Amino acid sequence: MSPRHVILETLQGGYHGGAESRLMIHEGTCGTATNVRQEVERVGLIEVCEENDVEVVYGSCDGNCWAAPSATLRHENDASEFVEKRFSRLDELIRVEDFGVLLNGMQRGQGFVDGKSGLLDRLGRLDGSLEHAVWLGAYSNVDQILRGSKSDALQRIEDWKLTGRGGAHFPTALKWRLASGNEGPRYLVVNAEEGEPGVFKDRHLLEGDPHRLLEGILICCFVVGIEKVFIYVNGQARAAFNSLSKAVEQAKAAGLLGPEFLPNGLRVDIELRQGAGGYVCGEESVILNSIEGARPVPRFKPPFATDEGLWGRPTVINNAETLAAVTTLWQDEPPPTKLVSLSGNVARPGVYEVPADGTLSWAGLLLQAGGEPGSTPAILLGGPSGVFVIPERYDEKIKMSEVGAGGLVALAPDSSIRSVVQALTKYNLRESCGECTPCREGTLRLDALLSVDTVDFDKVTSLVEVMSEASLCMLGGMAGRPVLSAIEDFPTIWKGKA
Ligand SMILES: Cc1cc2nc3c(=O)[nH]c(=O)nc-3n(C[C@H](O)[C@H](O)[C@H](O)COP(=O)(O)O)c2cc1C
Ligand code: SF4
Repeated sequence: MSPRHVILETLQGGYHGGAESRLMIHEGTCGTATNVRQEVERVGLIEVCEENDVEVVYGSCDGNCWAAPSATLRHENDASEFVEKRFSRLDELIRVEDFGVLLNGMQRGQGFVDGKSGLLDRLGRLDGSLEHAVWLGAYSNVDQILRGSKSDALQRIEDWKLTGRGGAHFPTALKWRLASGNEGPRYLVVNAEEGEPGVFKDRHLLEGDPHRLLEGILICCFVVGIEKVFIYVNGQARAAFNSLSKAVEQAKAAGLLGPEFLPNGLRVDIELRQGAGGYVCGEESVILNSIEGARPVPRFKPPFATDEGLWGRPTVINNAETLAAVTTLWQDEPPPTKLVSLSGNVARPGVYEVPADGTLSWAGLLLQAGGEPGSTPAILLGGPSGVFVIPERYDEKIKMSEVGAGGLVALAPDSSIRSVVQALTKYNLRESCGECTPCREGTLRLDALLSVDTVDFDKVTSLVEVMSEASLCMLGGMAGRPVLSAIEDFPTIWKGKA
């Protein structure tokens, strides 16, 4: 048995399964926003649980934003199986007169899959200890990967065609390969800035299952030969930052970041940084400048970060979800999935995990979230740099290449597409860092061109062309996308009053 195996076995053995019945109260961003602790007190939940021998544990949200304030009841049944049931609005739980009947009536199949598949599996189920995470499958593939060769690991990622989940969908294996070439120090930067309006999947992932990200980081460090990692977390994502900080300490204390666990004497140092906020702060070269203490504006490219990133050294920059997704590629049936943050006109807004193989349609996703395709005039895909998906396309399957970072907003039946586009343009104007003229001046002019009664399509189109060709970064480069998309799909709304 390898020392690595011993560490994992010891951690796993250190988890005693908790009580037979356990209520996990979801206290992540959504729980906090809905005052879950106050609600627990108001409905007298602790007393009810005590009377019924149910242990109460505070944990993260499970990605079901719509359900907050919520809790998940887990119970070990007579067949020693764990069954789970989520309760939204905690009153519902209190109204259960006979807890025993409820517990015995709970059926298997409500999502408990022993940590064996998708990215969201452990969300809202972990008690915050490393032992529990390992017990539910965290780091389970690392032993196998670290025993193999770097090129085998890289090949696996390439075979599964994993692409970046930060928006641009650049092939992950290629990025890692490019940064592996040179001798000397190199870095990994994890992009968890998530400043794009309408995207909230990374913070849920970090709050709910930070060890999945750390596992992905270790795999990247092993393959590329990296010993220094920066995780750049959005300054407002406090629950994510706290959960991740704790997980890094746990991993360090358990020896997961050092040569006891990693091959070839590798020792990984992980440092957390908090962004100051702003859409452009998620652009990769802005993050590099920010970490170096320079003015947070985009850099010219080339050189690309894989050649000259932090302090001029090769640097891999990956979105947090990308690294988390790496961990799923060694499962028996790897689920190529993508997290999307779905909000707007649906009954159940939240984080959804959609298959990346093109088997789910837009209509299917809307229905899953309690939306009504028939009364949804469009889905905005990608926020201020995005496009509209119109009802004529709802039966098409969702393609990875078009989901961007995964921020989806289902528009309400009475939405004014023109107002939405104007609001997005004003947002880009406000968020432009002003470093380059095409974006600084272009967003201003675009806003003016859209503010008149009858919009001049030719002028808009040529301005957007200049902005997309000449802007220093893709904030300016893609600021015209929603405008062109709306002109193409809703041509009649631009004539007459703005
Ligand atoms: C204005 C702007 C904002 C961005 N914000 C983010 C972000 O919040 N998170 C992210 O991962 N990528 C963001 N990106 C993309 C990153 O620059 C980069 O492509 C990504 O982090 C690479 O990781 P990946 O290959 O794993 O997707 C942004 C890009 C632009 C132009
Ligand atoms: S495109 Fe906009 S955000 Fe990007 S560098 Fe130019 S001014 Fe700044």
